[in-house]
Amino acid sequence: MFNFHKNHRSLVIVSLLVFMGLSILIAIVPAYQMQETQPLASMQALTSQEISGLKIYTSENCMACHTQQVRNIEMDNVWGERPSLASDYYYSKMRLDLWRQSPSLLGSERTGPDLTSIGKRQPGPEWHFLHLYNPRIVVVESIMPGYPWLFEEKNENEIHDNEVTIPVPKKFLKNKNKKIVATQKAIDLVIYLQSLKQASLTQENPEPFFIPSIKKKEATNTSANSSLPDGARLYMSTCAACHQADGKGLAGAFPPLAGSKIVTDENPELLIKIILQGYDARSEYGLMPGFAEQLSDEEIAAIVNHERSSWGNKAEAVKSEDVKEIRDYINTLNQ
Ligand code: HEC
Ligand code: HEC
Repeated sequence: MFNFHKNHRSLVIVSLLVFMGLSILIAIVPAYQMQETQPLASMQALTSQEISGLKIYTSENCMACHTQQVRNIEMDNVWGERPSLASDYYYSKMRLDLWRQSPSLLGSERTGPDLTSIGKRQPGPEWHFLHLYNPRIVVVESIMPGYPWLFEEKNENEIHDNEVTIPVPKKFLKNKNKKIVATQKAIDLVIYLQSLKQASLTQENPEPFFIPSIKKKEATNTSANSSLPDGARLYMSTCAACHQADGKGLAGAFPPLAGSKIVTDENPELLIKIILQGYDARSEYGLMPGFAEQLSDEEIAAIVNHERSSWGNKAEAVKSEDVKEIRDYINTLNQ
């Protein structure tokens, strides 16, 4: 019976059975179990504008280069605070329309960074608009394609008050006299990107964990060690996207920190307040989001010290206690 060389019928039947068995095991059983998946208590359903943003994300095929899955291996710890769960995708699991099933946002290739928590990492809308229009405006060496068709070129007098004008520097404009205005598509897409944040876990959900990598570096900064984290690295991951690695900012969008009076002031209070609460003082620049939730006192002190000692800036260092004092003060005001 099992002599496949002689009996072609048994060859076909056995391979068919093996194929069906594997399909049940790796496709049907998991899909069945998934039906019981519930959203996390802290998650919110997507708004209709976020859904239209998601549709643009899929139609522009951003998944070709971006994942939205934090794997449970330690190297993925930079993309989220915890590994992704099936529940994370509860609300993006929907039919796009009659013809198309729910989009696979997980992605399979990371040419660009994972976007699971991009809403926390890159909160300002201005940055996203500039980056989508032409990534090279904000990330000099970026290889991401621009999406200029999500924007319109307009003359100054054609722009209505309720439209979003993007402060594109002159050298990136094809037509120097025109202004760049975001279309509804670009606005929806940015709203969707800003909504991407990992939901926090509730008590019923067991904490998923990262599998540590084998090659553990010794002597990393632990909390027992009183020295601050690496300010230069934190500046690069949190601030450089807007203020640029060289601290020179971007004319018309993000002010320079090199030579900034606020950065080098003897009293670091305003500087720390700006980082905690954000800043929108001048009309010539966009809005800076606050980082109170994202950065700890130690991290803010480290960034402040990096800014106060780089690009020709020279000012005295601050301590994490200084940051804590100002944070506590702001919190009492908000109560
Ligand atoms: C050809 C690959 C590619 C495609 C397609 C692509 N990106 Fe990117 N993306 C990148 C690369 C590379 C980076 C890192 C450099 C940079 O920031 O520009 C990046 C960075 C980003 C960032 C910033 C991430 C961070 O951590 O700061 C966002 C947001 C983003 N892309 C959104 C999108 C959206 C939305 C689309 C679809 C409209 C898209 N990307 C399409 C390659 C791509
Ligand atoms: C999304 C873009 C963005 C990011 C990210 C960002 N900023 Fe800003 N920042 C701005 C904008 C825009 C302003 C100007 C706001 C205004 O004056 O209206 C600003 C202003 C400032 C100023 C005041 C400078 C001056 O001389 O006027 C300081 C200091 C500053 N940012 C520090 C930081 C630090 C530190 C970080 C990282 C923790 C950071 N920023 C991240 C956009 C950003």
